[in-house]
This record gives sequence, C-alpha cells and structure tokens, in this order.
Amino acid sequence: MVEYKRTLITTALPYANGPIHIGHLAGVYVPADIYARYLRLKNEDVLLIGGSDEHGVPITLKAKNEGITPQDVVDKFHEIIKKSFSDFGISFDVYSRTSSKVHHETASEFFKKLYDEGKFIEKTSEQYYDEENKQFLADRYIIGTCPKCGFEKAYGDQCESCGTSLSPTELINPTSMISGNQPVLKETKHWYLPLDEYEPWLREWILEGHKEWKPNVYGQCKSWIDSGLQPRALTRDLDWGVPVPVEGAEGKVLYVWFDAPIGYISATKELTPEWETYWKDPETRMLHFIGKDNIVFHCIIFPSMLKAEGSFNLPENVPANEFLNLENDKISTSRNWAVWLHEYLQEFPGKEDVLKYVLTANAPETKDNDFTWKDFQARNNNELVAVLGNFVNRALVLTQKYYDGQVPERGELTAYDSDTLAAISTIKADVEKSLDSFRFREALKNAMDLARLGNKYLADEEPWKLFKTNPERVKTILNVCLQITANLTVVLDPFLPFSMEKLRQFLNIEKHIWSKLGSTDLLIAGHKVNQPELLFEKIEDAVIEAQLQKLMDTKKANEAATTKSKPAKESIEFDDFGKIDIRVGTVLEAEKVPKTKKLLKLKIDTGFDKRTVVSGVAEYYEPADLIGRQVSILVNLEPKKLKGIESQGMILCAENADGTLSIVSPDQKVRNGSEVK
Ligand code: MF3
Ligand code: ZN
Repeated sequence: MVEYKRTLITTALPYANGPIHIGHLAGVYVPADIYARYLRLKNEDVLLIGGSDEHGVPITLKAKNEGITPQDVVDKFHEIIKKSFSDFGISFDVYSRTSSKVHHETASEFFKKLYDEGKFIEKTSEQYYDEENKQFLADRYIIGTCPKCGFEKAYGDQCESCGTSLSPTELINPTSMISGNQPVLKETKHWYLPLDEYEPWLREWILEGHKEWKPNVYGQCKSWIDSGLQPRALTRDLDWGVPVPVEGAEGKVLYVWFDAPIGYISATKELTPEWETYWKDPETRMLHFIGKDNIVFHCIIFPSMLKAEGSFNLPENVPANEFLNLENDKISTSRNWAVWLHEYLQEFPGKEDVLKYVLTANAPETKDNDFTWKDFQARNNNELVAVLGNFVNRALVLTQKYYDGQVPERGELTAYDSDTLAAISTIKADVEKSLDSFRFREALKNAMDLARLGNKYLADEEPWKLFKTNPERVKTILNVCLQITANLTVVLDPFLPFSMEKLRQFLNIEKHIWSKLGSTDLLIAGHKVNQPELLFEKIEDAVIEAQLQKLMDTKKANEAATTKSKPAKESIEFDDFGKIDIRVGTVLEAEKVPKTKKLLKLKIDTGFDKRTVVSGVAEYYEPADLIGRQVSILVNLEPKKLKGIESQGMILCAENADGTLSIVSPDQKVRNGSEVK
C-alpha cells in the first residue's frame, strides 16, 4: 500500500425515506465505525463522513403516498436517522444532508464545471411520459415486467428480484406508478457522461491496479466493464432535486446518483475549511463503505465523474458488503421486515454494543447472511456474558476481595504466565492484520481470543483454591488477569466502545492508545480499581420470544394486506336466506375432542334447547376461555357425526388470510336464542 497521511472514510448516504435497520448497520455503518475508531486509537488523522440522501424517486414517491411534501419526508427521517446513529454510537465526524444549501451549491458547481469543459454529451431521446399527470417517468416512477427474469414489479432502474440494472424502455408492460396508466413515449433532452470513453481507463485503474479489492467488488466491476459501458444520463425530468444549472434545462434536476456521492464532498466542506486536503492531497486515502447494490455507482460512475473533473482523489478501496437477511427473509422497508434501529434502542437500552457485536460476528462480508434472534441471544449469553463478562468480573471481584481493590505485585513468572502475557502481542498483530484488510468478523474473533485466553488462564490457575495455601502465587495470577483486562479495553474498544468505557471506569484508567496494546504494565502494582458491575447481562427467552412474536405479527399483517378477498357469490332470493336459522347461544361446557388437534366439543344453551356442537377452533381457543361466551350458531344444519360425536349445528367463524379462525360473537350481550338476520 502507498504511504498515506490521513484517511477519509465515507459511508453510503441512506435514503431519508425510512429509518435505519440492521441491514444498513451490518453492511455499512458498523464496519466503517470500527475502522474509524481503530485509526483514531492509532492516533491517525481520519474523518468519518455520513449524511442523508434526500433526493431521488424513493423520496418523492413516499411523499406522494402520504400526501405530504418531499421536504416533510426528509425532515422527518433525517432527524430519526441522525438521532439513532448518534444514540447507537456511530462516531461520525459529520452527519449532513443533501437538501442543504452547501450541497446544492457543491453539486451544481461540479456539474457546471463538467458541462463547461464539454465532458457531457447532450442527447434527445424518447422517454416514458404520464399524460394524465404531465410528468416524465424516471427510474422508480415506472414499473413493469423484467425482461431478464419475468418479475412483474421491476422498477425502471432495477429489478429487485434478479438485481439487473435496467432502463425504463426495457420493461415489458410499463405502468406509471403515479396513475397506473400505460405511459406514452415523448422526446426529452438530457446530459450524459460517456462512460464508454472511460472504459480503457477504468480497466487499467481497477482491473489492473486494484486486484486487492474484495472479490465481490472486483468481480462486479469486471462484469460491468466487460459487458461494455454505455453513456449514462446524469439528469432527470423531475421537480425534486438539484436543478440542472444550465440554460434550457427548466424542470430538470441532477440524477440522484450524480448528486448523492458529491454529498460526501459537501459534508466534508461543512465540517472543515481544510476539506480540500481530504479530497485532493494525494497523501489522503479515501475509502467508501457501502452495500453491494451501490458498487457500480462507487466504483464506476462516481470515479468517472471525479476523473472527468480532474482535481479529486479516487477511492483507494471500496470494502462493500453483501446483504443481511432477517430470519430467512429479505429485509424490506416497504414490507416492514426489519429490526429498526430506533426501536431496538428503545427496547434494549444499554445494549448498543450487543447489537454491534452480533452484526460484526455475523457480518455479510463474503456472502449474504442471516440475522436471527436466537443467534443474537446465543452470542450475547455464550460469548459476551459467559466469556468476556465472566472473565473481567472474576478478575475484578477477586481483586476487591483479596486486596481491597489494589493491583497486587507480580512475582516470579511461570512459563504459563509468560506465554499468556506474550500472547497479547500476538493477538494484537492478528487483529491488525484482519482490520487492515477489512475483515471485521475475523478481527472481532481475534480480539475476543484475548478474553478467551484470560478465561482459560483463570480457570486453569484457580486462584480461589490457592489463596489459603499460596497467597504469593495468587498475587501474580491476579496481576496477570488484570493486565489482560486492561489490554481488553484497548483491543475491543473499536468494537464495543460503550462497554470498554465502562470497563475503564471499573479499572479506574484512562483510554490507552493502540500502541500500548501488548504492554504487560498497563496497571502498576498498588493502583486502586473500582467496584465492578456486570458488563453484560443474560438475555432471557421471553425477550427473544417477544421479538419473534413481533415479526410474526408483521408477517400476518403483510399476508392480510396482500390477500385478495374472494368475490361475492351468485345472488340468492330472500327466501333462500330465510331458510337459514342462525341464533345466539352461550357456551356452557367446552373440552378438547381426544386424539384430534383441531376439534372442540361444546355444549351450547340456544335459548330453546341445550345441544352439543363440534367446532374446529381448538388451535385458536382454550376450552376454559370459551365457557360463558356467546357465539353465533347455525341451528338448522343437518346433524353430522364427527369422531363419533353428533354435532348439532355449526359455530360461525371468520377466516383470516392465513386460515386461522375467529369466532363471530354479538358485540353486546343478547338473549340466548336471538335470531341473527
Ligand atoms: N441512498 C443510496 C442507497 O441507499 C446510497 C447513496 S450513496 C451515495 O442505496 F454515494 F450516493 F451517497
Ligand atoms: Zn429481473
């Protein structure tokens, strides 16, 4: 790697059309934050840049659906997103937004410069137009059938089913998202960046020059370049965005993927007057943290824009991640299939680090991965509590108990002691190697090895057994344990910042820089440590069950929303209806029918008799809960034998989308025998 003096870390700007979820965190913000914290611990000059992406069709569509303005949408979500990042401890140096004045100016100037220098081609083409709403239908304003995979709800810019990037005219059966109409073709003028002209340079720069990029990133770039790059339109016919700053471009704005990455530049400008040093000095190293759907924009389009402009640095690396799924299903904002950060922070106060830990330990670095609540619980209970928390707690509690909180002297070392202390430096080297190559899961595992080492050392040495017989030896053992604990506050600080701050308070020490890692004298004998509290708490089954229930409810709501009700049956005469005799009755007795899953045997008071009815609701109602309830029963249905019991009628139920049943009862108590008509 080239020597560098400072690092500029950018994180994909999330669309301000919804809150942040665990997929965003695992893919982009958690690894970027770990990396930034690591460099800061090494006393390096680093900036972590973030902000909200407030333009583009996802925002205007959301505004339209909710009957509010795009500005209302972004104002609302920018605040939610910004606050949740800050509460979660993502250590942005700046968190900006693309509707800001400085951003509009920066993006506008950037475009103007390329325009003035003749870097664009101007092209008139036919594009889809919604005649009813008098609007061109860019990107996600249009849906249709994907020509590649046949998915019926592909967007004008991408098919979310097969991932192919599309242009609206490729869609089969295009439909306007605004009116549902068939759009017509109409001529319009736009400015294009001739990516084809940049192809030889991209080939050289990425395919020859950056073979070290992650295989998933390099592979996507290669496939884009090999399939031949086309000129790319960088303007759109929309009324939300940065206006195109040239004459004859009324009603046109910059394409969101032109302005959004420039947001990284505007945010840096907002942060510091030295912004140019971070963007233009060749001794600055720029890294883009993104998810895999952003690769082409950060590796091909944005670099070509920067190259065309001429004065900016190019990214040194783009450590993109794959996707995180949730309980075996794709995370989706529109289907509400997600663990939302702002909700997690409310429901799990003080457990920010637990989520960071799980998302890192299970990060989708080389392939898509699954987040499950059971895994969340297991990692917390078996790793954070049982290994890390347990070790530091025992070390600190024994120090209080035996030495009144004073770090004991280390006496003569056994070979095991020396090996244990020496292992800290090996772990340091391992963690560095992993972090320097953006392998965060491996880095965390290596860092946790120090806690495992401590736990094992303590279990092997059993100081609590030796204290009576060999108190001198116990001093050495606990000194070693405390040095390991102090080293943990350094090596785990990038991953578990809140917990390591707590641990430093228990140890009564200041923050140490990374180069101190491996030192066996972070605590001197006689130093007084504080009374410890628990670093992590066990998460009980009930908590996990509640989260799973929440997801089940979401699934049900989605199924209900997408299930079409059956059309009405053929009309009947009033006399036909008159033949049906439905009454209200009260359940007197209820019991399960033996050897069946679904059946309950009910004794019902119908007002004119007491009869037995067998009903298929055993999966949804406990017998005891039904006794005393009023139900509606069809009383003149021919009796039928079910499992040897004669059923004299039928209890009326409503059937949910998922087939579950709900008994239909009067909404106030009525006389038994009342007719339902
Ligand atoms: N908003 C985009 C997304 O969520 C990411 C924009 S990244 C930037 O996919 F580079 F454009 F800022
Ligand atoms: Zn497709």
